[in-house]
Amino acid sequence: MRLIETLEYHGRAVFVRVDFNVTVGDDGSVTNDTRIRAALPTLRYLLDAGASALVLASHRGRPKGFDPALSLGPVVERLAMLLECPVSVLPFDLAEARRVVGAAGSGTVFLLENTRFYPGEEANDPTLASSFASLADVFVEDAFGSVHRAHASTEGIAHILPAAAGLLVQREVRALERVLERPERPFTAVLGGAKVSDKARVIQNLLPRVDRLLIGGAMANTFLLAQGLEVGKSLVEPDRVELAGSLLGGDGSEKLVLPIDVVVADSLDSTDVASVPVKAIPASSAVYDIGPETTRLFASEIVGSHTVVWNGPVGVFEREVFAPGTYALAEAVAQCPGYTVVGGGESITALGRSGFSDRVDHISTGGGASLEFLEGRALPGLAVLGYANA
Ligand code: 3PG
Repeated sequence: MRLIETLEYHGRAVFVRVDFNVTVGDDGSVTNDTRIRAALPTLRYLLDAGASALVLASHRGRPKGFDPALSLGPVVERLAMLLECPVSVLPFDLAEARRVVGAAGSGTVFLLENTRFYPGEEANDPTLASSFASLADVFVEDAFGSVHRAHASTEGIAHILPAAAGLLVQREVRALERVLERPERPFTAVLGGAKVSDKARVIQNLLPRVDRLLIGGAMANTFLLAQGLEVGKSLVEPDRVELAGSLLGGDGSEKLVLPIDVVVADSLDSTDVASVPVKAIPASSAVYDIGPETTRLFASEIVGSHTVVWNGPVGVFEREVFAPGTYALAEAVAQCPGYTVVGGGESITALGRSGFSDRVDHISTGGGASLEFLEGRALPGLAVLGYANA
């Protein structure tokens, strides 16, 4: 993969693809600036290297065309504060934007409006990629959260300008490569979330590499169903029961660890909750968290590991009564003396709420991107920089 250090920036305008897909509160301010902070080392590197201008580009949300509610406007103030320099918004018209960048003084930082407001971004339209490219002399890809997208601002542009991976992309790739290729053992993966369909490829790619793969969250229900257990009114994917069954009967299945007890209630709003063995889930109840025995089992596997990767909550942690399993696992990951990586928006939120974020070795800024990396898929935004998965 071509790295940021391999290109010359002095006196050049740099188009930097960042991932500023941040959440914004009702008052219009950024509620979580982790992704903005994560881009700062690359931005500072380029300014220190004498870039004449930085043209920062990001998507936000999934707009269908122009949508003021998904403008990058709210990012400007926070970015300027964190970078400690003024940030100017570029005109939406790219020809006009080119004139503005051309006339800028040395080291000016510009922000383009949401790349998905431009028709052709998601279709990777070469004409749009050329227009983006015309704003700069060099392209730096630092939007790790978007490298699984072959879009004009993530992939197309890298065919046109000299292109390299920024410092965040390098850090993310190194962390995920380390767990996939050089894990210290024992290596435990913890996968949660709602759907087997979202995680099946990760399970298949991780199973040969891990010593233990712990499964929780609603997706565990589909596995329990495949084992012939009753799961009452729990969320399941009936069309994935066969897939879950084949994983349970396939190579490496002895490494899969499913819940042995669960927390159930009649509905998500109920406060009348109970822990039951998985063999005794009442027909009128649904599973909303792993039970205390499972929590102890999973936590001891995690704490005793030398490498841990965690993606997806094991319960509906947004509700206090169903949060203990997920929070206990966050604590176990924090206590693990080995190398720990957490990815996926919900697990990161849970980690933050449990107060253990600063005790994890690597928190990925990519949700879908980190999952696809763990699936072993080629990611277009990295492949175009010369990266080949091992
Ligand atoms: C993310 O939030 O995971 C990234 O910003 C990618 O967003 P997307 O799934 O809308 O492409």
